Amino acid sequence: MGAELRASEGIQRSPRVTFYFAGRPVQGHEGESVAAALYAAGIRHLRDAPRDGAPRGMFCAMGICQECLVEIDGHRLEACRANVTAGLDVKQVTSESSDGL
Ligand code: FES
Repeated sequence: MGAELRASEGIQRSPRVTFYFAGRPVQGHEGESVAAALYAAGIRHLRDAPRDGAPRGMFCAMGICQECLVEIDGHRLEACRANVTAGLDVKQVTSESSDGL
């Protein structure tokens, strides 16, 4: 992704760390939401809809809609309610992994 999407002027951020999404390294700031860090990295497709497999991603950004559901270190969580930490392993919830949703 080209331009930095985070506001920068006058903002002090926590250290930049690397975590992983679908096995790919992503940079984020420690403590920001996983959804925000992925969005800033240009990643919008967080899961597949269970019925038709359509791509889904962050919508409400406050833990209500469940559109940002991902798997983090083996647990299904809303990406907008999980904080970035170094080495976090985030996976897409795909049609194949959505059994029972
Ligand atoms: S974007 Fe709605 S729950 Fe995360």
